[in-house]
Amino acid sequence: MKVIGYLGSPRVSGKCSRLLKSALEGAESAGARTVKVDLIKCNIKYCMGCGNCFLKHPELSIGKCPLKDDMASLLEEYIQADGYIFATPVYDMFVTALMKTFLEREIALTYKEKKAVAKIPAARPGIESHFKKKASIIVTGNVTDEYSEVMADPCFEAFDGHFMIQQVDSVDRYYVGRMEDITEQAFSENLAEAHSLGARLVREIQKA
Ligand SMILES: Cc1cc2nc3c(=O)[nH]c(=O)nc-3n(C[C@H](O)[C@H](O)[C@H](O)COP(=O)(O)O)c2cc1C
Repeated sequence: MKVIGYLGSPRVSGKCSRLLKSALEGAESAGARTVKVDLIKCNIKYCMGCGNCFLKHPELSIGKCPLKDDMASLLEEYIQADGYIFATPVYDMFVTALMKTFLEREIALTYKEKKAVAKIPAARPGIESHFKKKASIIVTGNVTDEYSEVMADPCFEAFDGHFMIQQVDSVDRYYVGRMEDITEQAFSENLAEAHSLGARLVREIQKA
């Protein structure tokens, strides 16, 4: 079983990254192989909105995007995995631009017969049958938990929209606040919770 963790923080040694690492260690402790993808180290260009990827080549699992960057190999790896952990800080009340850019480019995993048809895009015909995966989300922010409805929920919902289209089941949503002034001692509890989140994801995949 393979679980991929995607880090949307530009700070690869920051707190969001540490939570993701702990979650991946938890997934490993439950029997998964894991990979951590630091999106900041990848060459991911902005979607140009041409629609080529989702309007053409229904026979291809990731469509064909005219942009030449790391996205094709990232998507190939994505569709081979059994589960995902997405981790992002809140930037300006939403996921980071880095994570958003990656999510936008995931539209290549969908296919539509006509551009103008006003309905939710569907998973590509080539992948829909084996695309029932599971995912958990970690969001970090500076505000305390009482504001998570304003800061974290829009982030969770952005991921959940993707999961719905891709037929990925969402397992855990975990918001950790007070990032800039939290003590190491308090943070160690969050790391332990992230570890459990990773292990739980693997157990849910095993059950399915
Ligand atoms: C540009 C920017 C915007 C931010 N916006 C928010 C915000 O809207 N709400 C919030 O709670 N924290 C905000 N933060 C704080 C970050 O979410 C926090 O520093 C981050 O979660 C820590 O993770 P890291 O160690 O991976 O950087 C912002 C930080 C930056 C740099």
